[in-house]
Amino acid sequence: MVTSAGNWEAEQLEKSLSRRVRGGFGAYWVAGSRPQEPPPVPPIALTGGIPDADTLPIQELMEASSSVLRREGQDALRYGGHQGHVGLRDWLAQELGRREGLSLTADSFTITNGISGALVNVCETFLDEGDVGLAESPTFPGGAGAMQNCLSQVVGVPLDEDGIIPEALSETIERLKGEGRRVKLLYTTPNFQNPTGTTMTLERRQAVVEVCQRHGVLIAEDDAYGDIRFEGERLPSLFALAGGKGAVYLGTFSKTMATGLRVGWVLADELVIEALLRTRFDLGTSPWLQRTVLEFVSTGLLEHHLAKVNEVYRSKRDAMLAALDERCGRYASWGRPEGGYFLWLTLAETVEPAALAEAARRLGVAYVGGPAFHLDGGGQRSIRLAYSFVREQEIPEAILRLGRALEEAARSGAK
Ligand SMILES: Cc1ncc(COP(=O)(O)O)c(C=O)c1O
Repeated sequence: MVTSAGNWEAEQLEKSLSRRVRGGFGAYWVAGSRPQEPPPVPPIALTGGIPDADTLPIQELMEASSSVLRREGQDALRYGGHQGHVGLRDWLAQELGRREGLSLTADSFTITNGISGALVNVCETFLDEGDVGLAESPTFPGGAGAMQNCLSQVVGVPLDEDGIIPEALSETIERLKGEGRRVKLLYTTPNFQNPTGTTMTLERRQAVVEVCQRHGVLIAEDDAYGDIRFEGERLPSLFALAGGKGAVYLGTFSKTMATGLRVGWVLADELVIEALLRTRFDLGTSPWLQRTVLEFVSTGLLEHHLAKVNEVYRSKRDAMLAALDERCGRYASWGRPEGGYFLWLTLAETVEPAALAEAARRLGVAYVGGPAFHLDGGGQRSIRLAYSFVREQEIPEAILRLGRALEEAARSGAK
């Protein structure tokens, strides 16, 4: 009898894995999805950067989807091509063209499997083994992971409350070039950055564009959260400041509508779009969902939905800030973002991070620790709280638990 396990026993499998997997890339995602021991108290989760579940536009999407299937069902259920539905790309060209003051067409866009798919596409198109990609430190691990998956090295550049620090960016690029390295890409999230909530100032945007253009480094600008704005004015994108050259702009309907849609896009110079299409072998994203999204956005539902959800998120942010002021001021400091999904806490010197993690687990509040967003194992003294998903009525209790955990961790730190 032929045994089918053959090469695929555990120890054999290890030898068959690609260098990407053996290099440990992607370990963050795997570690995050492994089941752990159940906590003693059901935790209130301040972890996921996902939309408020009660505001998901289920009814509207059911109706949009039915209209699409009734009107153009056969087209919606066929392969739609790598570049994506032209109607949706036309809509994006008009919307983003008006917003950014640019002349765009459907050919300035390609539709992707969310920003995550866009990042894979951009990295596979531009990065080779041994190249260097830069990312903010801290950063969203999906960007760094996509770069590492191309066997590139990712180097972190520090950011402060005004965004990535241009002098540090310039020094890092010069140092790496001096070592004979090829620095190809900067991955940055200028609006309501994940995890820090930071928005890059206009001066910083101009300086970052100048540094990257001087050194021939392509900017991959992630704008997952730009439309989740409750206050203040939107600043021009790096893409617009760069005149649409040497930069790609990545957008998504995940945070504004629903993460389950998996519809995002790349906006870039037409020549770059053509290059991006040369590394796409996935036969595109779902034509049905792209058309459903178009039906939703082009009938004015997105505008309406955004006005509603931004009010919900503003109220949750304020509830979390008020509870933090009341319960946690002695043990941590934080900023006040004008939008997005996150608050970023810097722990006081007295707080012992491992003791905090243990106490938070026992008392029933879950957050994401800073190291998950650092490439170098740093970030021990910071935590990310998401206010987007938790129910507003649970926020005071969640922060009460966090305050108690901080107090315990400070007491144990002082021992
Ligand atoms: C900064 C950032 N970019 C991209 C994504 C993923 O977006 P998408 O669902 O469009 O792949 C996330 C999700 O958390 C994010 O925080």
